[in-house]
Amino acid sequence: MKKTKISIIGLGFVGLSIAVTNAREGFETIGIDSNKAKLKNLQIGKADFFEPKISAYLKESIKKNKVSFTENLNQILKTDLTFITVGTPSTKDGKIDLTSLKKVVSDLYKILKNKPKNHLIIIKSTVVPTTTSKVVLPILKKLKRVGVVVNPEFLREGNAINDLFKPHLIVIGYDDEKHCKTLEKYYKQFYKKMPEVLRTNHTTAEMIKYSNNAFLATKISFINSIANICQQLPLVDVNTISYAIGKDPRIGSQFLQAGPGFGGSCLPKDLSALIKFTDKFHGLNNFFKAVQNVNKLQTSQVVQMLKSLKLFNSKKVIAILGLAFKKDTDDLREAVSVKLVKNLLKNQMNIRVHDPMALDNFRKIFKNKITYCSKIEDCIRGANCCIILTEWDVYKKLESKLLRKNMKEPNIIDARRILIPSKFNDFNFKAIGLGPS
Ligand code: UDX
Repeated sequence: MKKTKISIIGLGFVGLSIAVTNAREGFETIGIDSNKAKLKNLQIGKADFFEPKISAYLKESIKKNKVSFTENLNQILKTDLTFITVGTPSTKDGKIDLTSLKKVVSDLYKILKNKPKNHLIIIKSTVVPTTTSKVVLPILKKLKRVGVVVNPEFLREGNAINDLFKPHLIVIGYDDEKHCKTLEKYYKQFYKKMPEVLRTNHTTAEMIKYSNNAFLATKISFINSIANICQQLPLVDVNTISYAIGKDPRIGSQFLQAGPGFGGSCLPKDLSALIKFTDKFHGLNNFFKAVQNVNKLQTSQVVQMLKSLKLFNSKKVIAILGLAFKKDTDDLREAVSVKLVKNLLKNQMNIRVHDPMALDNFRKIFKNKITYCSKIEDCIRGANCCIILTEWDVYKKLESKLLRKNMKEPNIIDARRILIPSKFNDFNFKAIGLGPS
């Protein structure tokens, strides 16, 4: 069977993951983006962000001559289907910003109106329900040979390539069965074992993506709310509670890790867009506002702990281990570290930071206001307190001996619950969701 030729518009974390994975699997792939600097780097095999496996896949695909990168949208004419993976960020008031999507769709209309063969447009970007029917289709539906499907992705940063190969479900929203079949045909070429496919309409597919992320956000805000109560109760540990309730198959064990709040490029943005979308329907109780509020306040738990240790004072040296919004990424979007450091700097505190991947990105934000350390020892040396903000594996191995040897005072705040408290008996050990001993 002739392999489908594919193009991807928007080479952020989702678009680039799709591009290099397809190219590596032997599909002729064209990656399109308007950012010239990004394209220049990609052409020589350099990604502008860290994601496990991406770099290796990119280099391999370039070597095999299976992928090319361009800003020329006309190149889609060489392909059978186009994934749209442009960003749909939040506006200042939290609504979804569809500017990039609208521009791409209008450009596609001009290009595809002269294509004599069929073409399928796949909306991968997260869009609020009815965007396809009210914004995309009115532009593209005049083109008889062009189909539009909504096919949301559920990729996690730090695990994108694995998630691409093993999706829990493929959701396809369509208005004409033949378009759904075209996409299924491509997926049958991509997957050795075809995952389950859920066929539905455009708007349901859009709503599935929001429901998914809103539920994950809800689980985190739920466990963080429980954690904040546990913290007040002697000898109570939220981790024991997460374990116990996670054993109930009706609840499930994932996304019950209490922490300093969720960040990243998706959960906060999608929750906010859903809140604004819900507000349009008068009289609905907007449950998601509570989920968002819990998250907004969660970073203050760390500040409260600093205050209880009498360390929320100017001149105190605070070592922060972990800056990325989660491990295995260098992404700082909506990262707790950024919020916390801004707050500590207002109080003239002396901040040292360490992160295995996100140090350079952090430097771009805070410039010379803080000290950047590429070694953990340098970060904790002379510190009054050490705060763990990201659950990188390297911090899980931290030993009390090393901290004792280097720190000025024995204070630890484990905001990610990765250390075993009993190993730090000689420290003032504070942790999210851990009641006093
Ligand atoms: C998320 C969704 O998981 C993914 O399906 C979607 O496609 C994009 O958004 P991602 O943003 O990469 O993926 O990260 P995720 O692993 O979901 O974590 C989001 C945030 O929640 C992180 O800050 C993480 O630290 C936090 N989190 C996650 C918790 O605090 N506790 C948990 O138990 C799980």
